[in-house]
Amino acid sequence: MSKIKILSEHLANQIAAGEVIERPASVVKEFLENSIDAGSEQISIQVEGGGTRLVRVIDDGAGMDADDVLLCLERHATSKLSDTDDDRQLTSISTLGFRGEAIPSIASVSQLTITSRTEASDLGTCVVVKYGKVMKVHETGCGKGTVMEVRNLFGNVPARKKFLKSNRTELYHIEETIKNYALANYYLGMTYEVNNRTVINLPAQTDTLETRTRKIFGNITARLIPVEGNTGTSNGSDHVKISGYLLLPGELAATSAKLRMFVNGRAIRDRMVIHAVKEGLANFLMKGTSPSGVLFISLPPDSVDVNVHPTKQEIRFHKANAIHQLVVSSVRNAIEQHQEYLKFSVFGAPDSQISENNQIKGAEQNTFTGNNWGQQGLPLARSKGSKSYPKPFTSRRNPSHGTNVPTTETPFINDIPQGHNTSPSANADHSVPETITGETSPSEYGQEQRPEVIQSLNPIGQVFDLYILCESKGTPESSFVVIDQHAAHERIIFENLKKQFSEKNVPSQALLFPKVLEFNPSQARILEKYEELITLLGFRIDDFGDGSYVVKSVPAILAHLTVDELMAGVFAEFSMAEKEASGQNISTSNRFDGVLSAMACKAAIKAGRSLEPEEIESLLEQMQESNVFSHCPHGRPVIKSFNADDMKKWFYRT
Ligand SMILES: Nc1ncnc2c1ncn2[C@@H]1O[C@H](COP(=O)(O)OP(=O)(O)O)[C@@H](O)[C@H]1O
Ligand SMILES: [Mg+2]
Repeated sequence: MSKIKILSEHLANQIAAGEVIERPASVVKEFLENSIDAGSEQISIQVEGGGTRLVRVIDDGAGMDADDVLLCLERHATSKLSDTDDDRQLTSISTLGFRGEAIPSIASVSQLTITSRTEASDLGTCVVVKYGKVMKVHETGCGKGTVMEVRNLFGNVPARKKFLKSNRTELYHIEETIKNYALANYYLGMTYEVNNRTVINLPAQTDTLETRTRKIFGNITARLIPVEGNTGTSNGSDHVKISGYLLLPGELAATSAKLRMFVNGRAIRDRMVIHAVKEGLANFLMKGTSPSGVLFISLPPDSVDVNVHPTKQEIRFHKANAIHQLVVSSVRNAIEQHQEYLKFSVFGAPDSQISENNQIKGAEQNTFTGNNWGQQGLPLARSKGSKSYPKPFTSRRNPSHGTNVPTTETPFINDIPQGHNTSPSANADHSVPETITGETSPSEYGQEQRPEVIQSLNPIGQVFDLYILCESKGTPESSFVVIDQHAAHERIIFENLKKQFSEKNVPSQALLFPKVLEFNPSQARILEKYEELITLLGFRIDDFGDGSYVVKSVPAILAHLTVDELMAGVFAEFSMAEKEASGQNISTSNRFDGVLSAMACKAAIKAGRSLEPEEIESLLEQMQESNVFSHCPHGRPVIKSFNADDMKKWFYRT
């Protein structure tokens, strides 16, 4: 006698339920998908007792007639494949459901009541199912659409029920599910009640993706960064489209940060996409934080497999590499665009106006011939040449008020440690005469008027020797702007370094007294392995034999550091970059960013340094000339703006 037996339908459904219905949130997910597939405009979700006592989903969609209300309880019954024999359909599905598995699965592990009516009939149908068995079917008066009601979920499978977490955790998962569908279908009206208390209430038809994103992420008021991208021919079989909004890095606490991703409208989990977004945000995202926002990827249904897992949250892209690249470039592009937005909103000067002032910049650079700073576009503060500047802050925009401003001896960029002016010997090993001669005598541009590049940003002053306060008459409104001086300067230097590095043009400074040092074998290994990169950074180090080396040149922007400090930095940064790249070649552009940002950090003006008014002005000008300044290269924000409304709130003014 044969030993093999066919499972009963009921058992098969329970097994399927084990895969598809993990927890109450899975019930919500399946019901929401069905309601959306049915073309609903308004969906209400009601939950009691963490979802095990009750999940009710009410929609105003197409509904089901009497036959379908019963048929949908059958395994593999679906209205979403027109020819159930044609397997090609599986590759071109545009509905969220198609397996015909959810309802029989749910019915097998709960008490399910379905009430539904189509437009065509006056009366609806109600069916009551208890743990897989139909108990009652009757006609009923009801609105058009469907009410799915589940009670006592897992009531007949105590082992599964025991696996559930606390009500709070289950409610969290339900809310996350609802938020995802509320984003992917931002035009849908949705309400969510827990124990009769309204938790979510979103209007039908009025939201845009942007306004809905703000609501879902907790009423964000800061700017959202739009992300757009495309590959392939539009509407072609290779067309991939990316769209969405990212929250500004650093805008949310790490705990509420979350990237919600959708592929063809389906919420998915995918590490490759997260990785791509992180790569796109490289240098803008703080270590240990994750990107936040919504990202939609639409692509031809046959270029993605959504049938990898019964819950359809894991998917497989056929051309994963191309998607990765597209996401990276779209996110990069978005953050670049954000810089322009920020520049305009803070400085109010479109790029064209900046270039009109190019003559002034050019003239300035000429006076710096022979000085690396000038070539870097990072001129010293106009400490020497600002004689004709008006008194800072108050009358700056009015050169005719110009009275002499006392010169400062402290070069702005070179954040030279205390010893710089007082004890030249402290850095004697770096003193190279010709690089210092770049300092311009006042007369060279002393008569020049201050370039009126900054149209709308008025510095008020500095607080805590760290923050520059300004009033911005920018676009679209005036605001109070706080700038972190170190972070701002660090980003500017970083961008310059990156550019110079990629152009193999990092300014180097020859040491007046080359320094002989001994390095241990692991240090010597780094020197040897990365000789080319280290040279590109502006170092010149020759092998002196017997484990000693002679350092002849150093990067100009770090010339204020001692050779020992510099070399310690080189070894530390290269080992770290090596570790982070975990064996991969660190010479690829991004992987090297850590070393460059460490250099930028050392070169940038320190937090805790009191700035002269001209230095503040110089920093603001450099920010305006720089293409990127929203965040420091470690991802900390550079600028915070508060508009009049924000400030009114501080004081409870309405
Ligand atoms: N809210 C609803 N409105 C209209 N029809 C529904 C609804 N829920 C389920 N159905 C019908 O029941 C069928 C079975 O649903 P389900 O088991 O989730 O499988 P699938 O969604 O994969 O088709 C659906 O194909 C649809 O025809
Ligand atoms: Mg379904």
